[in-house]
Formats: sequence, structure tokens, C-alpha cells
Amino acid sequence: MLSARLAVLAAAAAVVSSQSAFSLAPAPQASQDSSNAAGLASTSNDGAASFTDVSSIFDTANIVQQKQGAPSNSPPTGQVAATTVTAVDGQLVNATVPNIGSRAYASRARRSADDYEMLFEGAPAGQADAAVFGTAFLTWALVPNDTYASGLDACMDECDSTNGCVFVNMYRQVNNPLYDFELPEQSNLKCVLYGKSFMLAEKTDWGTDSLLPSMHIEESSGYAVRSVADPETPEGYEFVFGPIKAATQAAGYMGFVFLDQYNVSACAAMCSSRGVDPKGGVCQFFNIWTAEVNGTQKTYTCSMYYLPTDASTATNTGQGNLTVANSRGYSRIQYILNGGFEQYVCSNGDIFCFSTSAPNWIGISPFGGFEDATIFHYAPYAHTGNGSALLGCAYGTDTQMGVLQTTAPIAKLDIGRTYLLNFFHWSGYSGQQVEKNAIVSVWWGNTWLGNITGYEAPYTYHEYPVVAGKNNTITFIGGRAPAYSFLDDVGLFML
Ligand SMILES: *[C@@H]1O[C@H](CO)[C@@H](O)[C@H](O)[C@H]1NC(C)=O
Ligand SMILES: *[C@@H]1O[C@H](CO)[C@@H](O)[C@H](O)[C@H]1NC(C)=O
Ligand SMILES: *[C@@H]1O[C@H](CO)[C@@H](O)[C@H](O)[C@H]1NC(C)=O
Ligand SMILES: *[C@@H]1O[C@H](CO)[C@@H](O)[C@H](O)[C@H]1NC(C)=O
Ligand SMILES: *[C@@H]1O[C@H](CO)[C@@H](O)[C@H](O)[C@H]1NC(C)=O
Ligand SMILES: *[C@@H]1O[C@H](CO)[C@@H](O)[C@H](O)[C@H]1NC(C)=O
Ligand SMILES: *[C@@H]1O[C@H](CO)[C@@H](O)[C@H](O)[C@H]1NC(C)=O
Ligand SMILES: *[C@@H]1O[C@H](CO)[C@@H](O)[C@H](O)[C@H]1NC(C)=O
Repeated sequence: MLSARLAVLAAAAAVVSSQSAFSLAPAPQASQDSSNAAGLASTSNDGAASFTDVSSIFDTANIVQQKQGAPSNSPPTGQVAATTVTAVDGQLVNATVPNIGSRAYASRARRSADDYEMLFEGAPAGQADAAVFGTAFLTWALVPNDTYASGLDACMDECDSTNGCVFVNMYRQVNNPLYDFELPEQSNLKCVLYGKSFMLAEKTDWGTDSLLPSMHIEESSGYAVRSVADPETPEGYEFVFGPIKAATQAAGYMGFVFLDQYNVSACAAMCSSRGVDPKGGVCQFFNIWTAEVNGTQKTYTCSMYYLPTDASTATNTGQGNLTVANSRGYSRIQYILNGGFEQYVCSNGDIFCFSTSAPNWIGISPFGGFEDATIFHYAPYAHTGNGSALLGCAYGTDTQMGVLQTTAPIAKLDIGRTYLLNFFHWSGYSGQQVEKNAIVSVWWGNTWLGNITGYEAPYTYHEYPVVAGKNNTITFIGGRAPAYSFLDDVGLFML
């Protein structure tokens, strides 16, 4: 029984070396303890099962209401509305965006009035007019009302100094006792800032109140910033596609949130803080887009995926009366080269081979040991794809612990910044009884992060926060054949 187990990995290797057209014998599974019967097949590579839940997104978009204007019964607060989450996975909520890392927007250079273009003019003074009621409301202020032009100048200043402001709606609210008699500004000229532009059709708030019959709005004009820069790519992510009029519909879907602003950084923060999918791991891609009804923006969708994708899967242009606009994709930067061991391939195109070296990785055996840390190309051993790493003598001929290490310090990290090191581990090859001796020690440079011991079901997720220092090397030490440990999809992501 024991010798059968010891022979397992070596036998497969022997077959490979003696036959050029290798066809895999099912023998390895048969020789394992029956306690491992669930096997790898039941979880390997099936993370791709979950697909974008399109109808949940559109059903929620139909019911969410996030349009806003400036109130008429309270003074300006001087606060810019933080981007909020208005729905999570189909449930309407009112939640803040987690504060992940330091993602401050660069403040914009001061503009002149020429940097704005008028999108609509106010009705002539004395006539009733309407204010904008729309999405992406930021803040509002009362500006000096001596002349409309001086008020507009002050209003554009407000916009220039407010992160994300691209549009101002300025109007007088006439006969509002709060402005006429109470507030120190002594002005009825309201300057309302938005993170998106509006056309005339969205002037729908007439500013009336049954208790104040003479109150109304006049001279409501709209000015947009002429050149709106593309959104900045958030730290720890890279821009993949957009803007296009189709949303991502892809595998590895983790869920969605609605935001009340088209805020790429906020979507990135939602992705970085999204709970881990037990099979797929962390969020590695997000798609942000605008849901429009008849050209009017309704909400900003942020959908998240644990499998990175690209524009080729952005195929959803809408549903019912909702259409997709401003769709952009960003993928999370994975700082470890060949973390999934996929770059290791068999020289002659075989489906099975192993080695003590692969791009960016080296397997080292201690004195007296042989092939105690190896990289495999063989789909049945892998969490995803073909590649994985094995700790424990591949031939089963010694019980020493191998060392699997990155060949060079990981590049492009910010010293002092926290990253998330994660990977999938499986110590079940030889069955529960034998694998109770399994061990893997995880190291970040010279810092010990933890030990994983004993039997573990096929591909279990593990993560450790690490701080980038001068020696950003990853080392796994372990394996006591026949207590083997497999590792796959080693990732390092900015937090
Ligand atoms: C969301 O919550 C904040 C703070 O509790 C509150 O000021 C705001 O009015 C709420 N918004 C909505 C749409 O309920
Ligand atoms: C976008 O979201 C980020 C993260 O929540 C926040 O720091 C930033 O102020 C937001 N930008 C705007 C324009 O609201
Ligand atoms: C300016 O606003 C004040 C306070 O609401 C109002 O009394 C005054 O009539 C306004 N001035 C003009 C020129 O509209
Ligand atoms: C969409 O807009 C067109 C013209 O702009 C209008 O005729 C139509 O009624 C609108 N449809 C809806 C559902 O609002
Ligand atoms: C869009 O369709 C939804 C569901 O079919 C409906 O509830 C909503 O009123 C429609 N909106 C417009 C503007 O037609
Ligand atoms: C796995 O390797 C085989 C060849 O051994 C190759 O044909 C296949 O495309 C690889 N699969 C992945 C996902 O890389
Ligand atoms: C970096 O850490 C690894 C793992 O502990 C170690 O082997 C290596 O010697 C270290 N390099 C330096 C320059 O400290
Ligand atoms: C972790 O495992 C190593 C063997 O690799 C062992 O020397 C060490 O004592 C273990 N540490 C703990 C805290 O169990």
C-alpha cells in the first residue's frame, strides 16, 4: 500500500520519459486513499461556472433612484457628497465606499470661463424655469447674486476646486424666505455641481413648494467643462478597454454594486475589498458602466470578476429600455510573474512534465534530497490551467522538505505599501491519513508568514498581507513525501 503511494509521481514521470506520445494512465488516483475520493476534478477549473447575472443588474437598475438636486429648505453644507454605494448584488443599500489605500485624485488646474461651454441657457428673468434633477450630484453653494455673470464666475470657481466636477447648473430660487431673510450669504443664486453633464431635457425640478406658493426658479443655465480628462487609472490596476457601449459578460463573476457617481477609483476600492470567492480567489477585474434610459443616466454599475478579461467579452449592450454607455474595464495588477506556473510547458508539447525550474521560480532540494520542490505541467494537478508546483520529493524517494522560491525579488512594488499575497494549496494527493504530515512554511523575504499543516482539500485559498520591503522574495518550504503539497495561482495584489 505504502509503496504504491510512493511510486505514484515517479511512475508518471517514468512513463513520460520512456514514451514520446504520453497518454495518461488513471493509476495515480487509484493508488490513493479512498478518503480522497472527491478528487481534484470536482473543483479544478470549474470556477468559470459563474457568469455575469445580467438580469439582476438590469432589474435593479430599473428600481434604483439616485437623482438629486440642491434642497431648498436647508443651507448649503459645504460638503461634497462622497461616492456612495446604492445597491449590492441586487439589494438597494446606502453605503460608503471602503477606504482602500490612498487614492487621492490629482487636483485640477484652475480654469477660465472659456474652459466651460454652455449646454443650455436659462429662461429670461421673470419667467418660471426648472433646475436639473439628475444623477452624480456633488454639492451646491449660494454664490453672490449682484450680477448673473459674477455669480457664474464664482460658481465655476466652486466647480474647479471640487474633485470630479464637470458640470454646473446655476439658477435663482426666487421668494425663498430662507435665502431672502435668514442665511448670511444674502443671495438666492444657487450653484449646483455635478459629476456628469446634462441637457435641457433633464431640467425637471421646478422648485415649487405648496407651503410657499410664490417660490419658483428662474434663469437656470447649464455649463459643462469643455475637456473632461479620461478617468485616472487607480493604483494597483491597469486600464484594459473603453469607453464602449457594451458591458462585460464573462466568467468568474463575483457580483455587482451600483455607485451614485461614475467613479473608477470607487469601483476599484469595491473590487479590492470584495470578499474572496473560495474557488476563484480575489477580485481581479472590474467593469464600470453607465445604465441609461432613453439617453438619461440612471446609475453607475461596477461589476467584479476573479478572472481577468478584456473587451472581447464586453458584449452586453442593454436590456429592455436600459442601454449601456461609458463601459470601461480595468484589471488588477498581479505583481508575480508566472504565479500560475503556466509559462512552464513541456518541450515536445506533452501534457505531462516537471522540472526544478520554471520562469521566475526555482525548486531547491536540501543536501541528500532529490526533486523535493518541482513545477508540474499537468492539468489534473492544477487549480487552473496546466501548471502547479509540488513540494515533496517527486519520485517519492526521500522525505526531505523542498524549497520553492522566486528567482528574483518581485519588481515594481512600493516600499512600505501593503500587498496581499495569496495562493491555492492542496495537500490531499496521498489521502487524508498520509497527508496529516503535510507542511508548507510561507516566507516573505526573511519574514515567516505562517505554516499550513496536515491534509487540505483540493485547492484551498490562503492569503497573507505583506509589506513591500527591500527583499520581496516569496519562499515556500515544505513537503514530506509521501505527504505532498501542491501550490498554484500564487498572486500578489496591491491593497
Ligand atoms: C444615506 O445615508 C446618509 C447618511 O446616513 C444620509 O445622509 C442620506 O440621506 C442617505 N441617502 C439616501 C438616498 O437614503
Ligand atoms: C471617488 O471615490 C474615491 C474612493 O472612494 C474617493 O476618494 C473620491 O473622492 C471619489 N471621487 C469623486 C469625484 O467623488
Ligand atoms: C439676491 O438675493 C437676495 C437674497 O435672496 C435677494 O433678496 C435679492 O433680491 C437678490 N438680488 C437680485 C439682484 O436678484
Ligand atoms: C424617449 O425619448 C423620445 C424622444 O426623445 C420620446 O419620444 C420617448 O417617449 C422616450 N421614451 C421613454 C420611454 O421615455
Ligand atoms: C423601463 O422598463 C421598466 C421595466 O420594464 C419600467 O419599470 C420602467 O418604467 C421603464 N422606464 C421608462 C422610462 O420607460
Ligand atoms: C494545457 O496544456 C496543453 C498542452 O499540454 C495545451 O494544449 C492547453 O492549451 C493548455 N491549457 C491551458 C489552459 O493553458
Ligand atoms: C531574501 O530573502 C530570501 C528568503 O528568506 C533569502 O534567501 C535571501 O538571501 C534574501 N536576500 C537578501 C539580499 O537578503
Ligand atoms: C513551521 O514549520 C517549520 C518547518 O518548515 C518549523 O521549523 C517551525 O517550527 C514551524 N513553526 C510553527 C510556529 O509551527
